Amino acid sequence: MERLDKRLTGTGKWSRTEAKALIRAGRVAVDGTVCRAPEQKTDENASVTVDGAPVESGPVYLMLHKPAGVVSSTDDPRETTVLSLLPEEYRRRGLFPVGRLDKDAEGLLLLTDDGPLAHRLLSPKYHVDKVYYVEVDGALDESDVSALAEGVVLGGGTRCLPARLEVLEGGRSARVTIQEGKYHQVKRMLASRGKPVTYLKRTAFGPLVLDPTLPKGGWRALNLPEIQALFRH
Ligand code: URA
Repeated sequence: MERLDKRLTGTGKWSRTEAKALIRAGRVAVDGTVCRAPEQKTDENASVTVDGAPVESGPVYLMLHKPAGVVSSTDDPRETTVLSLLPEEYRRRGLFPVGRLDKDAEGLLLLTDDGPLAHRLLSPKYHVDKVYYVEVDGALDESDVSALAEGVVLGGGTRCLPARLEVLEGGRSARVTIQEGKYHQVKRMLASRGKPVTYLKRTAFGPLVLDPTLPKGGWRALNLPEIQALFRH
């Protein structure tokens, strides 16, 4: 059971003050009956409407095409954050990015307010593939493919899990697939091979593929098959 005003604010569309005002104005109905008491406890299965339109309160899943120059944190006093690219209602809901992309990296970022799902997707136990398109200074070759397949050892002695490297365009670019998310991992793996990354873009995260119609900075809600695929993963 949850307070009616809380049920409304949970959507991110209204502040607590606005929710209370809507309820007191008689614009909110619970299972078809107008309720004017913000503190009224409502069952999570009850149908709540505002001006007759249903209030959706389930978790939100968004795909963002992160542009370079914005940081993946939710809050930063000096930098532009990925959340500032979203409408106010999503910021109020407490969405957060599932994993991070570096400030200079681009590509697919999943944002949600579903903590348990995010936790599973980020856990190395679940082996979620992350695919990156990279450009490097130098030329990647078969020795790099083998080294990544074995698991490179980063400066400081950290060993990475085996990763897949598919060399493209004569070695100046490649697709890299990793299943973990160490700090600057792809850049550090390729730097350890003497081929520093000059451009990095995440093209897939588990079953999700970056929507080619999304411009940089653009976002959209995941569709039902995408959400189902994430849960099946
Ligand atoms: N690896 C990196 O080096 N940077 C990212 O943003 C993601 C993976």
